[in-house]
Amino acid sequence: NIGKVASELECGAYVVGGFVRDLFLYRANEDMDIVIEGDGIAFAKKYAAMLNARIHAHAKFGTAVIIFPHGFKIDVASARMEYYRFPADLPTVEMSSIKLDLFRRDFTINTLAIQLNPDKFGTLIDFFSAQKDIKEKAIRVLHNLSFVEDPTRIFRAIRFEQRFGFSIGKLTSRLIKNAVKMDFFKQLSGRRVFTELRLILQEENPTPAIKRLDDYDLLQVIHPSITPNQKLISLFNAVKKVLSWHDLLFLEESYMKWVVYFLAITRYCNEKISRDICEKLELAPRHSVIFCKERFEADKRLFWLKQNSPLTNSSIYRNLFSFRIELILYMMATTKQEKVKKSISQYVTQLRHVRTSLAGRDLKKMGIEPGPIYREILEAVLDAKLNGLLKTRNDELIFAR
Ligand code: CTP
Repeated sequence: NIGKVASELECGAYVVGGFVRDLFLYRANEDMDIVIEGDGIAFAKKYAAMLNARIHAHAKFGTAVIIFPHGFKIDVASARMEYYRFPADLPTVEMSSIKLDLFRRDFTINTLAIQLNPDKFGTLIDFFSAQKDIKEKAIRVLHNLSFVEDPTRIFRAIRFEQRFGFSIGKLTSRLIKNAVKMDFFKQLSGRRVFTELRLILQEENPTPAIKRLDDYDLLQVIHPSITPNQKLISLFNAVKKVLSWHDLLFLEESYMKWVVYFLAITRYCNEKISRDICEKLELAPRHSVIFCKERFEADKRLFWLKQNSPLTNSSIYRNLFSFRIELILYMMATTKQEKVKKSISQYVTQLRHVRTSLAGRDLKKMGIEPGPIYREILEAVLDAKLNGLLKTRNDELIFAR
């Protein structure tokens, strides 16, 4: 249908990028990118109207997102016939618009396109030997100025390399080293570096990517004090184990995976350095508070738990209930003491779900005057319940009295 609508507007239509790459890698990909040779927004409007979908258009960039009622999205970009001016003193080249669009992309493996117009439906377009590089499992840039144009591509190279088990090509690797040496990151905002780092930390297993970031001296871009010594790598592996454990038990519970890994990265930084890092990477206040405040409270609690084990259930609960799940998982990963680890896992699997069946109205019925005492009573009931002293609602009522 996409191709048919585009042909009615006399435009070429292609599905491009990650979606096509992942077809060749037998990997699922639900993000569809379409390039229209012509006015992409006009196409998106017509196509969305036909299928009862909404669109969000950016006239300035000639792009649109088509959003279907059940949430599926298609990104649409416009490609126009242009002359490509190389950044240096090289001759200007004339290219077909789809070819130019693909030439502007980061790596050869992302330059495949499939034509969608009915007369050429399914034609595979491969101008830059993407199929060869996919076969050779290589991440290669299209030209030597790729990282000058966009230094965030360095992080992307490492992310793709690790995700697919590929290798960064020799020349591309040299270009990365050169870009790092010339400090191309200086021109990037901290926010953009953070966005890329976060994407890496959201990957299935970020540990090898952290090693690769270090190979290229890129952890220094976060902060000079971050060194990926054996301690950090073991911590990353411990985080991975804890997250797998959590995901197996609580599939439906969502949390920010990158936060737990980022807590691991900043684990050996003091408060001042943590604050510097959050400022440099321009983290939103709702995120900075996790790394600059909550983490230090978690470290203190963890220290207390270590000193005071064995513990009652109520004291485990009281020490942990104010922390968000990301910090609980961080605590689990950082502790080496089996007993403490067990206590935290008991909190995650059981204790945090325990509630008293009593409420204020039950206490009122008993003739207790409302006031701060209600909270004290209800907390005492919960503590007793956590410690296994109260089995039934009746036990709770008797205890409250
Ligand atoms: N792209 C680029 N330079 C960047 C970011 C993106 O050239 N700094 C190009 C890539 O070629 C990519 C396309 O824009 O194919 C879309 O970007 P994105 O959605 O981030 O890439 P995907 O390959 O779909 O990545 P993912 O599988 O992680 O979604």
